[in-house]
Amino acid sequence: MHSFKELVQLFEQRLADNLPFKQEPQTLYEPCRYFMKIGGKRIRPVLCLMANEMFGEVTEDAWRAAKGVELFHNFTLIHDDIMDKAPLRRGQVTVHERNGLTSAILSGDVMAIYAYDQLAHIKTSLPQILHLFNKTSIEVCEGQQLDMDFESRNDVSIEEYLEMITLKTSVLLACSLKMGALLGDATEGNANKLYEFGKNLGIAFQLQDDYLDAFGTEDKIGKQSGGDIKANKKTYLLLKAMENANDLQRSAINALLQRDDAAKVPAMLSLYTNTGADVACREAVTKYSQMAFDCLEDAAVLSVRKKPLHDLATYLLLRDN
Ligand code: IPE
Ligand code: IPE
Ligand code: MG
Ligand code: MG
Ligand code: MG
Repeated sequence: MHSFKELVQLFEQRLADNLPFKQEPQTLYEPCRYFMKIGGKRIRPVLCLMANEMFGEVTEDAWRAAKGVELFHNFTLIHDDIMDKAPLRRGQVTVHERNGLTSAILSGDVMAIYAYDQLAHIKTSLPQILHLFNKTSIEVCEGQQLDMDFESRNDVSIEEYLEMITLKTSVLLACSLKMGALLGDATEGNANKLYEFGKNLGIAFQLQDDYLDAFGTEDKIGKQSGGDIKANKKTYLLLKAMENANDLQRSAINALLQRDDAAKVPAMLSLYTNTGADVACREAVTKYSQMAFDCLEDAAVLSVRKKPLHDLATYLLLRDN
């Protein structure tokens, strides 16, 4: 069995050797190559490969699914950066800033189609895989729309937030795991356990992403820090700060939500700390990670076969990028 690091390396090799994009028009395909090559943790493909390897040798179909899911993820990031007006991604200029809006929209679109083309080459269980992937893609769109809708709402509940991040982020992690398991001929029961593992892991992952957006440094996260605060994103940090705030703090938060100056981010960060929202967010990461570990525990597979996934989940819990 392979570790996270080994699978990332193997995946990178396969990817570098044959990115599927054509050459012309350059303005369409060059941004695709650029974006795929500037890094990324490759978590989703590795989850797919690890879930597959739990049940035997990694199969060619699992490599195809892994490649498909990473292409799809990268498409969502290019479009997400347009929606979030993000200047930086993976420590580099975002595609829409570098190549303009048209290229960013179309390079993202074509990348999504190439993702599906990878899946089209899968030789076993294709209808089931496609159905799962389609359902997931639809959910990601729903989650992304909710995320944007929430920017202009001030009555978002934690429950709504959790539903939104489940849709925009965690179902893709869950889908990656389930595809890997199904392609490894896992039982439906085990495949579903891994899906639930991924769903909880994905929630913890997005909570951590929100935390790092606020408290991480730009050189580590490779993204503009404080971007969520600038955009009035309804993150767990903001919702918890509102919930925990006294009257004075609550009006300070509400006033900051109307502002758009350089002092907004540091002032909001102080409120997150003073209301204990930062601690609550860390606790929530731990809680959902624990729920993920419990689901993994429940899968009817020898625990030694679960170790790589267990290690990966532990790394994600502590990550700073
Ligand atoms: C970023 O995902 C988008 C979220 C769902 C939070 P990653 O943090 O996996 O991004 P890369 O691929 O490693 O850059
Ligand atoms: C992005 O969430 C989720 C998807 C791309 C589907 P975020 O907007 O929080 O991701 P980052 O922080 O830009 O990576
Ligand atoms: Mg976003
Ligand atoms: Mg974003
Ligand atoms: Mg984020």
